[in-house]
Amino acid sequence: MNEAVVITIDGPSGSGKGTVAGLLASTLQWHLLDSGALYRVLALAAQKHNVALDDEHALATLATDLDVQFVLDSDSNSQRIVLEKSDVTDTIRNETVGAHASQIAVLPAVRAGLLRRQQDFQQAPGLIADGRDMGTVVFAEAPLKVFLTASAEERARRRYLQLKDKGETVTLTSLLEEIRARDERDTNRSIAPLKPADDAIILDSTTMTIEQVLERILSEVAVRSLAG
Ligand code: DC
Repeated sequence: MNEAVVITIDGPSGSGKGTVAGLLASTLQWHLLDSGALYRVLALAAQKHNVALDDEHALATLATDLDVQFVLDSDSNSQRIVLEKSDVTDTIRNETVGAHASQIAVLPAVRAGLLRRQQDFQQAPGLIADGRDMGTVVFAEAPLKVFLTASAEERARRRYLQLKDKGETVTLTSLLEEIRARDERDTNRSIAPLKPADDAIILDSTTMTIEQVLERILSEVAVRSLAG
C-alpha cells in the first residue's frame, strides 16, 4: 500500500487552486501534481499528431504513451513541462489549449488512460494534487480534500489581469463567457464531473487572499497532523 499522504485541491479554473497547490507543495516540501496540465499536454499532443479531439480511441492511446516530463526548475522553484523533448510550459496555458483540454476530458477512455499516470505521483513524503476529480476519483482516500471556488466574475477578473500582464489583448466579457462555458462542460459531464467530494472542505476564495487560503489549509494540515 502507498503510505504517502495526499492533499487534494479541486475546483474550477481561476479559483486560485494552481497557485495555492504550488505554494503548499513548496511550503511542505512535497510533490505536486498539476493534473490539468496533463489534460492540456494531451490536447497539445493531439494537435501535434493530427488526432481529432473526438477520436476517443486514438486519444486514449496517445494518453497512455504520452512522453511528458514535469521538471522542477530549482532557480524559480516552478515546474517546467516537457512534451517529446520540447518545453511546452507556456504553450499549454493558452485559452485554446485549455478549451481543447476540457473537450477531451469528457471522454472516459482518455480519463482512464491518464489515471495511473496521475496516481504514480503519490510519493513520499507527500503529494499535493490539483485538479477537478482528485478528491472524488483519483485519490478518493486522501485524508484532506479541499474544494476551492470563487465567483465566475472574480475568476474572469483574475484571468484578465494575468493575461493583461503578459501583454495579451483580451476582453473581460469574452473571458467570462469562456469561463462559464468551461464550468458548464466540466460540471455537467457524466464522468468525473467537477464537484466537491462528500468529505471536502469548501473554500470560497472570492474575497480571500491567496495567503488566507494557504493559512486555512495549513491549519487543517496541522489539525490532522499530516505533515511530519
Ligand atoms: O486546471 P486546468 O484549467 O489546467 O484544466 C484544463 C482542463 O482539463 C479543464 O477544463 C478540465 C480538464 N481537467 C479534468 O477534467 N480533470 C482534472 N483533474 C484536471 C483538469
